[in-house]
Amino acid sequence: MRGAAGGEEALWLAERGWSVQAVDIAAAPLAAARERAAALGADVADRITWRQADLSAHPPAAEAFDLVCSHYVHTAHGPAALLEALASAVAPGGTLLVAAHHPDDAHHADTPGAHVSPQQAAAVLDPGRWEVLAAETATRTVDAGGHGQGHGHGHSHPMVGGSPVSVDTR
Ligand SMILES: C[S@@+](CC[C@H](N)C(=O)[O-])C[C@H]1O[C@@H](n2cnc3c(N)ncnc32)[C@H](O)[C@@H]1O
Repeated sequence: MRGAAGGEEALWLAERGWSVQAVDIAAAPLAAARERAAALGADVADRITWRQADLSAHPPAAEAFDLVCSHYVHTAHGPAALLEALASAVAPGGTLLVAAHHPDDAHHADTPGAHVSPQQAAAVLDPGRWEVLAAETATRTVDAGGHGQGHGHGHSHPMVGGSPVSVDTR
């Protein structure tokens, strides 16, 4: 699991029995996510290891994970470097799941170059090694308010919110 932040994916997976390594470049979100895990009890907390790292510069161990997922992680190095790092960590037969803001999403126009379409993401992957299961753009409506629900815009709006790419190694 990558780009831990609130730890949503790490907690979701650990609650369902996965052993998870959660990575974020920043210390504060990792600490907050670790607290949330602890509050859920040792069964969940003990399944997650937390690591502070810049994934583009320090990729996770090669071919070590059955599932690598990245939700809305945008790095200064650009999406290609991050995707290559994440893809390299997937074990043979494993799955890479990426969700990102679409470059056409006007709400993220202030960070040009940081976002990636599903087609651009899929193109980073070696077709000899990867089978693309889904590369789709979805629009979702987000509510005003909290984390992940409106990004502080203070109103509901339709958002080109996802560039999910789900791929399996051959
Ligand atoms: C929108 S948040 C992800 C939220 C998370 N998926 C969740 O649901 O809780 C994006 C996170 O990516 C992290 N991030 C950005 N660039 C990174 C990088 N190069 N390596 C690791 N984490 C990075 C940020 O610190 C931030 O916490």
